[in-house]
Amino acid sequence: MKTITVLVGSLRQNSMNRALARALEVAGKDRFRFVYADLAPLPMYNDDLWADVPDAVTALKQQLAETDGVLFVTPEYNRSIPPVLSNAIAWASKPYGENSWAGLPAAVAGTSPGPVGAAGAQIHLKSMLPVLDMLVFGQPELYVQGSADMFDDTLGTTREDTRVFFEDWAAKFDAFLDRVARQDTRIAAE
Ligand SMILES: Cc1cc2nc3c(=O)[nH]c(=O)nc-3n(C[C@H](O)[C@H](O)[C@H](O)COP(=O)(O)O)c2cc1C
Repeated sequence: MKTITVLVGSLRQNSMNRALARALEVAGKDRFRFVYADLAPLPMYNDDLWADVPDAVTALKQQLAETDGVLFVTPEYNRSIPPVLSNAIAWASKPYGENSWAGLPAAVAGTSPGPVGAAGAQIHLKSMLPVLDMLVFGQPELYVQGSADMFDDTLGTTREDTRVFFEDWAAKFDAFLDRVARQDTRIAAE
């Protein structure tokens, strides 16, 4: 079982993106152990706070130190990623020389009610990840047009074709992790 740290870019109780993350967890249940990062307690990024590092920051960086891969599940806000996700990315990328994202393989997924399925946000996010020295999983992409009745806590998704697609995604992400895990691309801290 590979450990996957999951960052969901929505704090909403009925978040469709959280439901999507859960559906991907169900689809990959024989391959992955999902560990959900708690982004709510992270303060807004402020360099001054490194003087007394917030516990939530320490916890996130510790999770990333122990993970095999990362899954970002992002809503789309104004064709980009929401502040909660941007904030978490900033915290874990610092302090200078201690970028916790470096060398980690990452998949990106997202859902929105519109037909673009959070594609704008995901493409934005994917352009950030190499800057963080992450290894980006490319195919299949997961642009999901979501609706409240599409997700089910036990089954993952109520739609058979979507379930098959998510299981295929899980198998391919698993194979990607095997490939990139063979190299230690984590670069030394600068
Ligand atoms: C500030 C804001 C901006 C949004 N911008 C977009 C957008 O650019 N594209 C889109 O498809 N949906 C947009 N939405 C709608 C979200 O996709 C929708 O609220 C979605 O349910 C959020 O994900 P969640 O259910 O995981 O919280 C926006 C919502 C908010 C609050």
